Amino acid sequence: MASRSQSVNTPVAVVPRHVAIVMDGNGRWAKKRHLPRVAGHKQGVDALRRTVRACLERNVQVLTVFAFSSENWNRPQEEVSGLMELLVLALSREVPKLNKNGVRLHFPGDSTGLSPRLLQGLEKAQQTTAANDRMVLNVCFNYGGRWDIAQAARKLVEQGREVTEAALCETTALAHVGDPDLLIRTGGEMRISNFLLWQCAYTELFFTSCLWPDFDAGELDRAFADFAGRERRFGQTSEQVTQAPPAAVGRTHA
Ligand code: IPE
Ligand code: IPE
Ligand code: MG
Repeated sequence: MASRSQSVNTPVAVVPRHVAIVMDGNGRWAKKRHLPRVAGHKQGVDALRRTVRACLERNVQVLTVFAFSSENWNRPQEEVSGLMELLVLALSREVPKLNKNGVRLHFPGDSTGLSPRLLQGLEKAQQTTAANDRMVLNVCFNYGGRWDIAQAARKLVEQGREVTEAALCETTALAHVGDPDLLIRTGGEMRISNFLLWQCAYTELFFTSCLWPDFDAGELDRAFADFAGRERRFGQTSEQVTQAPPAAVGRTHA
């Protein structure tokens, strides 16, 4: 457990096991350059490629990114279809490289409303990378935290199981990886925007005004250095956690 006295400028001592990112600010990045919003999303794919590489180099085990929210359907039709097209394109371009680098892909989210072509692409990418074990990359697409909790509760009821915390932990969309240790949000907004509501109960939060297309390894290291200086108490006292590591809340990590 990192001590509180570590400053933000100390070298990264504690790398979070599971990093989640709300990749926000693509539209503003494009607007500043008088470009269409979709140009910002295209740059966002490059930023994600850089971030995956940086996470692999730092031995992050799980990276979970928010690519399209349940509420993003409310954007102009042109932007929504642009984002769908971009995902199809990114899958065909990136999956071979990700596979070579030992990345296992998952796409947590609601499949309803997605085109058969996109669903096929997601399924194929998941199957192709299923045996990889260097890092898990969860690309949350058509995902909402409220959708996730509701779908999990519905499944449990259908199975005749009791809706308990442990059962929900097993049934929500990130059950295969456990809860994030660090959530980064770019773009300057300080809100969750319906991302991992269930899973972020004890996640450390890091907000940066850096727009997502400008995000790089340096910004990631700033977030990690800040994380290394946090004291995670999980409801206990400071004295307790400095004597023995606190028990993780909700579920234990694999
Ligand atoms: C995040 O960037 C990407 C998606 C939500 C798909 P935005 O498109 O929200 O960018 P801003 O917030 O308008 O700058
Ligand atoms: C959150 O960003 C969703 C993704 C990054 C995919 P938004 O831009 O949709 O969030 P709000 O609308 O500003 O809360
Ligand atoms: Mg936004």
